[in-house]
Amino acid sequence: MNSYVGKKYHVVTYGCQMNVHESEKIRGILHSLGMEEIDNPETADVVVFNTCCIREGAEDRAYNNVMALKKVKEKNPSKVIVVCGCMPQQKNGKYDLKKRLPFVDIIIGTHNINALAQYLIELSKTKERVYDIIEKPIATMDPDYCIRDDKTNAYVNIIYGCNKFCTYCIVPYVRGREMSRTPEEIYKEVKDLVQNHGYKYITLLGQNVNSYGKDLKEKTSFSELLKNLCKIEGDFKIKFMTSHPMDFGDDLIKVMKEEHKVAKALHLPVQSGSSRILQRMNRHYDIKHYMSIIKKIKRAVPNIALSTDIIVGFPGETEKDFNQTMKLIKKVKYDQVFAFMYSKRTGTPAATFEDQVDEDIKNIRVNKLLRLQKIIQKEQLKKFIKKRFDCLIKHINGVAVGVTDGGREIYIPNYKYNNENYFTKVKVEDIRNHKLSGVIDE
Ligand code: 5AD
Ligand code: SF4
Repeated sequence: MNSYVGKKYHVVTYGCQMNVHESEKIRGILHSLGMEEIDNPETADVVVFNTCCIREGAEDRAYNNVMALKKVKEKNPSKVIVVCGCMPQQKNGKYDLKKRLPFVDIIIGTHNINALAQYLIELSKTKERVYDIIEKPIATMDPDYCIRDDKTNAYVNIIYGCNKFCTYCIVPYVRGREMSRTPEEIYKEVKDLVQNHGYKYITLLGQNVNSYGKDLKEKTSFSELLKNLCKIEGDFKIKFMTSHPMDFGDDLIKVMKEEHKVAKALHLPVQSGSSRILQRMNRHYDIKHYMSIIKKIKRAVPNIALSTDIIVGFPGETEKDFNQTMKLIKKVKYDQVFAFMYSKRTGTPAATFEDQVDEDIKNIRVNKLLRLQKIIQKEQLKKFIKKRFDCLIKHINGVAVGVTDGGREIYIPNYKYNNENYFTKVKVEDIRNHKLSGVIDE
């Protein structure tokens, strides 16, 4: 028996869905040591901070929250604090964690989280602080450990790392090169989640899912993987993120059109509406190419829910470049836009570009863009009227609601809901106070 049996743990997560899913695996590892989860980091015996370094704000938040536990640790030296993930993996980051967090017991990076149980046991025996950052994965994390919070949507990793090296992005440096899981492994995991655990949505995860399979001995593609997964029997749908416009081929558009198990939603980050800026970002496509994908996908999958990521204030972005981004979002009419102010990441090429944009200007631009998107989203609601959507029926605050693949809620008044989640067609009848309502229309 290990010394952690019966102890309490708490996991704090920052960043993307990849990190959310990794934290589900971390929880599994802690359970396997005989521990139980609690909500309060102050009273937990083991607290794990799974960190993110995509932007400075994410780093600051994580660092400040770890610091907030310093006093608690001083009063209770047997409390174990772990900091892991992207922040420790980053070379020459803003915070020298080893030096600035001497009260933290275990600091590890992105490539050895799966060895957390060993690190914890080692610590309990030697009482010596662990600082171990390695350059390559020792093995990928075993999904069998996973403890998932969400009972409807399950995340499944299909590819780790990124080979793209966009000039602003730290991800390739902290997550390493692309590494696909085998189709067999993924198939087995998805089948189990759908058939034995009743998951309705499977979200396939990767920094760039369209690169899937290129690095495998038996080469395959993302569209092949999707087609295979759709053969799994059951009432479920597949989502995926994130896609890169450079690798987004017609084969994938065809699968999205033909397979009813592939959700009618697509997150396709554009990053900027200016081809000049896209080139400086090393994105390998221009706006003409991006718009051709949007046109094709809208034609193939009418009513698809589109979302995107945009970086505002990338070095050298002029008012003209920014206006091109504004023009683009007016043209595409996304259901959702995630807009970020450019954040300088040490070690990336763009951090050394001389024409950095003032923070004030970034601020003005990002707010302007978000205001425009809000207006577009409101206008877009009208387009839902009289349209039919395949929805997952749920119960929200006592009312039956159909949720579209894009996450839009359609209230279904007077509908008797039998407490089971299932997919069915819902027709939108009305909009009131920006809320949609409709009827079941099988
Ligand atoms: N500054 C601001 N946003 C960034 N992203 C990635 N790196 C940076 C950065 N240095 C954004 C991109 C990406 C999303 C996950 O985060 O838009 O698609
Ligand atoms: Fe970062 Fe670009 Fe890779 Fe996405 S594709 S993780 S933005 S380097």
